[in-house]
Amino acid sequence: MALLPRHAFCYAGATSGRDGAPASSPSTGRTPSAAASRVPLVDALAACASQDTVASFHFPGHRRGAAAPPALARLLGLPPFAHDLPELPELDNLFAPHDAIAQAQSRAAALFGADSTFFLVNGSTCGVQAAIMSTCPPGHTLILSRNCHISAFSEEAFAEAERQGEHLKIGALLITSPTYFGVCSDIRGIADACHKHNVPLIVDEAHGAHFRFHEELPATALQQGADIVIQSTHKTLQSSSPSYLLLASLDAATEHAAENGTAAFTDAIRLAKQARELLEQVEGLKVLSFNGLRDRGLRGVEAMDPLRITLGLWELGISGFEADDILRHDHQVIAELPLLQSITFAVSLGTTLEDVDSLVAAFKVLAKSRRLGLCSDANKRERSLASVFCTDKWRNRRLAPREAYFAASERVHSEAACDRVCCELICPYPPGIPVLVPGERISKEAVNYLKAVVKHGGFISGASDESVDTFLVCKQDSLKHLGVGDGLCFKY
Ligand SMILES: Cc1ncc(COP(=O)(O)O)c(C=O)c1O
Repeated sequence: MALLPRHAFCYAGATSGRDGAPASSPSTGRTPSAAASRVPLVDALAACASQDTVASFHFPGHRRGAAAPPALARLLGLPPFAHDLPELPELDNLFAPHDAIAQAQSRAAALFGADSTFFLVNGSTCGVQAAIMSTCPPGHTLILSRNCHISAFSEEAFAEAERQGEHLKIGALLITSPTYFGVCSDIRGIADACHKHNVPLIVDEAHGAHFRFHEELPATALQQGADIVIQSTHKTLQSSSPSYLLLASLDAATEHAAENGTAAFTDAIRLAKQARELLEQVEGLKVLSFNGLRDRGLRGVEAMDPLRITLGLWELGISGFEADDILRHDHQVIAELPLLQSITFAVSLGTTLEDVDSLVAAFKVLAKSRRLGLCSDANKRERSLASVFCTDKWRNRRLAPREAYFAASERVHSEAACDRVCCELICPYPPGIPVLVPGERISKEAVNYLKAVVKHGGFISGASDESVDTFLVCKQDSLKHLGVGDGLCFKY
């Protein structure tokens, strides 16, 4: 049973038909309304941009390129500016779509398997927040997994979803699947459990927008019964007003995926397999794999995106941040996600055999140089500290986030911060999963992990002291006043 019409929020891309049955074939992209344009919004934008402008008094102020910032015009040429148009009548309106945007969104919905799709131009962040806001009215509680993206932990998202005492009214369950590393949950099982209790399931599928296009890729969240799904087909600039360049790129991406998705992903999957096999032979590298996770008895791992390659580097005694620098500077290989002990590469439609060769060659050189003695035991020990750190150790909720955020606070040194209640949301970015949320007890593991991230060149967002030498914690008096107990509004 689906509780809600099934929605997809797409940063660029989209979805189709009820109950997981695609209303159109991804290989042909023929939809019931395809008699009209296959790229309705792109066509509308092209038609509008080609009009002779007599006197254009609308935003954006560069007036279709006439007053474009010269440096940007030199870089991009004028055509992008000619197409950078506002909600003109011919271009429909994102906030009440009925024409070209409505057509483009229903085409996307049909392709991806949703009842309806909403294009987003403010990132998946706003999709996650919209999903929470629309399912958790005041007095309702959101249950979310602790490895959710920071967007789910924001102040806005928390609004009113707090302090329900014993009588919880659950608004929704939110999970992230796949993770940044491509690891997928048992969405079908979770959806069934949610639906038994009349709770809608929201899936942050920011990293899984391509799953719909190849049978070797994991099943999509919509196919498995999720009620609301957020995808990031593209990561682009944030904009507060709907940019038609971004909207049209969603339309164009839908068309591209509909026409070429399966064939293009076949090549990408083949290349990723090849890279994975070659990297597995490099001594000192650990390649994250589905079987490896299963063998370690990790619960809830249901599938894995073959296009994400994550390499564990601890045996080489090097952090992902350091490896990233070396790969970039010495080998011209650019990774997607360097972390403390690992580095992740995203194989995509544009990846070539030469790219795979460069990646493998770079790691052969890197691994060899580390084995030649550059890695000290001290280094290894330090990194293994981080390896014991996992989200299980983050279940330390003492206070609702809003209470902690607004509680009287004091700054203490990191050693004194252990066991105190944190007032800040502290989050290494990437990957954007908070290590400390306001209201959580600060554990020694969390402090060590954050310090190691800083030491090895990672970036921490949200901390008022980015060096994490000090932390903002709740004053003990304010805790008494608030009556600290186990937090009830989130289960992990
Ligand atoms: C799982 C997940 N959800 C949501 C987001 C937010 O995406 P955006 O930057 O498009 O707002 C990210 C960003 O990396 C993410 O990894």
